[in-house]
Amino acid sequence: MLRQTLSRHFLLLATCLCLAAAAQAQKLPNVMILATGGTIAGTGASSTTTVGYTAATVGVQQLIGAVPELAEVANVKGEQVFQIASESMTNEHWLTLGKRVNALLAQNDVDGIVITHGTDTMEETAYFLDLVVKSRKPVVLVGAMRPSTALSADGPINLFNAVLVAGSRDAVGKGVLVALNDQIHAARDVTKSNTSTPDSFRTPELGLLGYIQGGKPFFYRASTRRHTADTEFDIANVNTLPQVDIVYGYASMNTVALDAFVAAGAKGIIHAGVGDGSLAARVKPALIAARKKGTIIVRASRVGQGILARNGEANDDELDFIAADTLNPQKARILLMLALTRTTNTAEIQRMFYTY
Ligand code: DGL
Repeated sequence: MLRQTLSRHFLLLATCLCLAAAAQAQKLPNVMILATGGTIAGTGASSTTTVGYTAATVGVQQLIGAVPELAEVANVKGEQVFQIASESMTNEHWLTLGKRVNALLAQNDVDGIVITHGTDTMEETAYFLDLVVKSRKPVVLVGAMRPSTALSADGPINLFNAVLVAGSRDAVGKGVLVALNDQIHAARDVTKSNTSTPDSFRTPELGLLGYIQGGKPFFYRASTRRHTADTEFDIANVNTLPQVDIVYGYASMNTVALDAFVAAGAKGIIHAGVGDGSLAARVKPALIAARKKGTIIVRASRVGQGILARNGEANDDELDFIAADTLNPQKARILLMLALTRTTNTAEIQRMFYTY
């Protein structure tokens, strides 16, 4: 009799606990973690190896398993989209990732997405997604500057913070975000500013969007440019992006690289000029010739901050060139590639550079 009563009470208690757990899980946001590789998934020979390690060796389930605290703040699921060091990222990887993100965000049971990624090209992937994601739901890119095996590895806390942001209502409609080192940055303006330190990701002059502190994101500003759900770009039926290359400006530069890119069929050239996008006397004629062949020319700057002024260091109206505004050369390349999926009209493309 006593045993039957105890087993009924135990069964009742177990049921209540299961219901409570289910209710708790229902309250937590559903966050997908898409893994692509990088240092956050890297391993080194010893705990003091912070350079000279191997990136992209740890799988997504192991990354999640290393942070059991994730289960306290979100219902997370992991998916290994690919496993590469991000210096090897390609347009094809971006198209695969962008289409997967859009498919997942269209699901009602996905509230946000975290993408673990190498830091070398993270700013580029983030901006590409900022221009092609068709949702207001949070998409947060995260990486690490130290491999998972290092003393004070930054990956686990960065991943925890990124999931917090991806599951936060405050992050809805903010565009694609980059979250490392307790900071939240906008995809359009963030850049990797140091080769190896944990505070590498910065948004020079324009500033970060907010912080993560005490298990909560705090936003203080938002981007003024169009992104994500408001984008005019659509990659659903795009399998190849137009070839756009970057020529770097420097004293005594020549036109060998530029001529080779044009001869190889580049549809666009980003001229990463010195200063305010100045054109060297020996290079300008080659750019004009390329434009005459139909190649779209964007004047950007190697400087890293400030507005690249239209008709400043060159008469863009006369040359039919485009000014990159504040986009760095690698991001100007991304916007031009997507612009070329819609038009070759330079006035329209310039509008896009002042819109996104
Ligand atoms: N190979 C670099 C990359 O995958 C390592 C840098 C990092 O992820 O922090 O981007």
